[in-house]
Amino acid sequence: MPPAGEPWWRSAVVYQIYPRSFADAGGDGVGDLEGIRGRLDHLSWLGVDAIWVSPFFGSPMADFGYDVADYCDVDPLFGTLSDFDHLVADAHERGLRILVDWVPNHTSDQHPWFAESRSSRSSAKRDWYVWRDRPNNWKAAFDETQSAWTWDEATGQYYLHLFLPEQPDLNWANPEVVEAMHGVLRFWLDRGVDGFRVDVVHGLGKDPAFPDAPPETADRPWSGQNDHQSTHAILRDLRRLVDGYPGDRVLVGEVYLLSTRQIAPYYGDGDELHLAFNFAPLYAPWEAPAWRRSVDRVVEELDPRHAWPTWVLSNHDNPRHRTRYGSEARARAAAVLLLTLRGTPFVYAGEELGLEDAEVPPERRVDPGGRDGCRAPIPWDASTGHGWAGDDPWLPWPPEADVRNVAAEREDEGSVLHLYRRLLAARRESVALRLGSWSPLPSPPGVLAYEREAGADRRAVVVNYTDDVVKVAFPQAWTVQVSSDGQSEGASYEGTVGASQALLLRRQPP
Ligand code: GLC
Repeated sequence: MPPAGEPWWRSAVVYQIYPRSFADAGGDGVGDLEGIRGRLDHLSWLGVDAIWVSPFFGSPMADFGYDVADYCDVDPLFGTLSDFDHLVADAHERGLRILVDWVPNHTSDQHPWFAESRSSRSSAKRDWYVWRDRPNNWKAAFDETQSAWTWDEATGQYYLHLFLPEQPDLNWANPEVVEAMHGVLRFWLDRGVDGFRVDVVHGLGKDPAFPDAPPETADRPWSGQNDHQSTHAILRDLRRLVDGYPGDRVLVGEVYLLSTRQIAPYYGDGDELHLAFNFAPLYAPWEAPAWRRSVDRVVEELDPRHAWPTWVLSNHDNPRHRTRYGSEARARAAAVLLLTLRGTPFVYAGEELGLEDAEVPPERRVDPGGRDGCRAPIPWDASTGHGWAGDDPWLPWPPEADVRNVAAEREDEGSVLHLYRRLLAARRESVALRLGSWSPLPSPPGVLAYEREAGADRRAVVVNYTDDVVKVAFPQAWTVQVSSDGQSEGASYEGTVGASQALLLRRQPP
């Protein structure tokens, strides 16, 4: 439990579920809400505090659910609203919070609002989307050759879409849109959700003049550049709405701007997002100086009074960190880092198994953004179907699924899964790790070392980014509490850290 007065989401670890790929109860090869519900005991055993479920709403699935055609219903592929209510009830019974993924920047082109908007220039919903006679130079995501504007033959204008043509952007400058989308939030808040992950939140406010992107960045998608001040008033209204509900509901925004300085304003003065993703570290190489810079930027740029940091290594949009960093040892060390930095960590389902991206042969590729590899299904056991009911899943299994699966790793105390479990348990029992201060400790090149402190509770962390054993001496005596390779836990720290090893140390009483 967080200390009194601290909202739960500051000390929580959030576990991201990509519902298509998590667990299939229905037997059609696509994961579903009942599949998630059936695995809640496992998540409690693991020790996460909250789950965020990627979109499961009515959708034609051009972007696998990030193209929503009905915000207030469950797509039949994933189940029913009543399945969702059961999921919330069962999660809450276990003390797990649940966040849903709200996609406010754009709808599906199959959403009735867009159908009406495109029906004629004089439609009552024409202005719910962004229609122009002439496009500017903005590029769409996923394909740099693609304009962010698509010509609509029937009504003779272009509409804006920062992503696929099947994902037209809503016009948040229209108060009716704001009202309708507030209604969506209330719908899910009333059903008991603990908050929202807000998709592409920096996209909401657009410069009403729609100026061209500058020549230096004109060939990059506008979805990674849109950063207009009008978004902040929209966010203040959303914050008021969400804070009007009891129980510390939370807004976690996906601000896909790759500098910490640019995401900082999205916390407002503590009156906008509660949490904002900071993706700059996700793109940092596995090198000590790069990570030290990432942490320094967070310390320098985020206002400590209200901008609580977040940390992410993997998600459904990027190659898994096990794949990016190139070895299991590094992925393990990265887990120690993720779960001991100051801020709220997000764990992407499967990283706790040490999964690599799947090799997806060309004929099985389905994602327009080339992200299939990190979305491979979770193997639950060593059987041929790996615990999935029925058909082959929609994507191929990740590598080594016969040994790298939940059942096998639960049996093996040396597994990556048990490492995550020990780290999560260590966070729970240490206020220093959850909420304490962060300060760097002197360390040789190639190593990042820091201390977390809250009153008498002190932990130190040593992360060796190199492939050599390194000496890192400290004046005080420390005990190894968790080590990324499971070695020497419980022993006194002897002043060396192994190749690609990370250690969580506990201060010995003087
Ligand atoms: C976000 C989602 C991504 C999706 C995009 C468009 O970046 O994380 O999966 O494709 O928004 O909704």
